[in-house]
Amino acid sequence: MKENRDTRLLRQAKAVLSHNLQDGFTIPRAKLYPFQWNWDSGFVSLGFANYDVDAAINEINSLLSGQWDNGMVPHIIFHSENETTYFPNWDFWETTVNKGASQSPKTSGISQPPVLGFVLENILDKHPDDKKVLAFAKMIYPKLVHYHRFWYTYRDPNREGLVFIYHPWESGRDNSPIWDDALDLIDLDHANLPHYIRQDTKISDAKERPTSRQYDQYVYLLELGKRYQYDGKGIAETSEFLIQDSLINAVLIRSNEGLIKVGKRLGFDTNEIEEWQTQSVQQFNTKLWSEKLQTYTGYDLRQAKQFPHWEIGGLTALFASIPNSERAEKMKAYLSNLMENNFYTVPSFDVYHELYDSKRYWRGPIWPQMNWMIYHGLKQYQFQSEADFVRESLLSLVERFGFHEYFEAQRQVVEVSHGGYGGNDFSWTASSVIDFILCG
Ligand code: GLC
Repeated sequence: MKENRDTRLLRQAKAVLSHNLQDGFTIPRAKLYPFQWNWDSGFVSLGFANYDVDAAINEINSLLSGQWDNGMVPHIIFHSENETTYFPNWDFWETTVNKGASQSPKTSGISQPPVLGFVLENILDKHPDDKKVLAFAKMIYPKLVHYHRFWYTYRDPNREGLVFIYHPWESGRDNSPIWDDALDLIDLDHANLPHYIRQDTKISDAKERPTSRQYDQYVYLLELGKRYQYDGKGIAETSEFLIQDSLINAVLIRSNEGLIKVGKRLGFDTNEIEEWQTQSVQQFNTKLWSEKLQTYTGYDLRQAKQFPHWEIGGLTALFASIPNSERAEKMKAYLSNLMENNFYTVPSFDVYHELYDSKRYWRGPIWPQMNWMIYHGLKQYQFQSEADFVRESLLSLVERFGFHEYFEAQRQVVEVSHGGYGGNDFSWTASSVIDFILCG
C-alpha cells in the first residue's frame, strides 16, 4: 500500500529526532549545532510527548541540569566539553565570572524565549493521568517558577512587567532587521574585541547566515555580559542593546499561563505568577501595540522607542491570548494579504520592506517553530483558514525540500529553485511536523 504524505512525513520526522537524540537530550542538528539549545529542546520535548514520553521528560531534565542559582536557564548547555566545532564554545563564555553559574554541565551566559511553562502544560495535557508525568511535573514546577522569577528580577529593573534582553541571541531571532538600529550604536572601532574564529560559515552557506559585522556585535555584547557577571546591574546601565522584545514577553506570558494552569492542578500556590501575569498582559497591550503597524512590536529601552517594522515576533501575542478581538483582526489582515499575494506563511520579516531578504536567516524566511506557535494562536481566535494555511505551508515545504532549518516564503521562488535553507535534518522542524500531524 502506498504511504500517504502525513504517514511518510511522520516516519521521516521521527527518524530525524532519533538521529539527533544524544544521551538524554537532542541537538538541533549535527555539526552546525552540536549541543543542547533551550527553546529548541522545549519544542522537541512537545514533539516527543506524542510518542515517547520518557524522551520528552529527559529532554527537559537535561536542559534544567544547567539552570543557574539565579534561576536562569541558559540558551546553550554544553554537555560535551570535547566538541570543538562550535563558536562561541563553553570556554569563550567564561561563566565562572558568576558564582551561581552551572559548571557541570558548562553553559552559555544568556537565555532564550522561556517556552518551558507552556511545554509542560502541553505534555500534561497529552498525559493527564500518567503517574510518571505527574511526578515529573511536580519536580520541575518550582524550577520553572524560579526561571520566570529570574526574568522578572534581573530583566525588569523598573518593575514594569516587561522583561528586557541584551543580546539578539536571547530573542531566538539572531539577525532580524529589527536589531540593526540598536546594534549600530555599538562602536566597533573601539570595542577591543578578543580574537575569534567563526565555525558556522564553514558548515553553512555564508549567504544564509549573519554577516561578520553582526558577529562582531554579538561578541561585543557577550563580552559586555561577561563584564557584569551576566546578571549584574551594569548590563541595564550600559548595554547599547536593551530591548523589551515582543516574542520574549509573549512567550513568557504564555508560559505564565501554562504555569498557572499546571500549578492549580497540582496544588501549588500560583499567586506570585498571577501577579506577574496581570501586570505583564496590561503593559504588553499598552507599550508594545503599534497602531501604525497594526501589530505588536518591540521597545528599545536605550533609545526609548518602538521598533518601526513589521516583524514576526508580534504575532506570537496571539498565542499568548494578549490582543482583544479587534486587534487580533488587524493582525490577521497582514496574513490574509500574504495568502492572496502568493506567499507561504509566515515569513519572519515584512516582505514589502527593502530589508526583507528571503534567504538570510531571520530577515525573511519561514521558521517551523514560529509556525507552530502562530498556528495555535490563530486557532484560539477562530481564524481557522489562516491557521490551516500556516500549518499547510510548513508541511508542504518540508514535503518538498526536507526537514530544513528555515524556508523560502515566495511561491514563485519555491517553484523554480531549492527553498530549504540552513541545516537539514533539523530537530524542531521534525517536532513541529510531528505535532501538526498528530495533534492538528
Ligand atoms: C539559531 C536560531 C536560534 C536557535 C539556534 C539553534 O541561533 O536563531 O533561535 O535556537 O539556532 O537551533
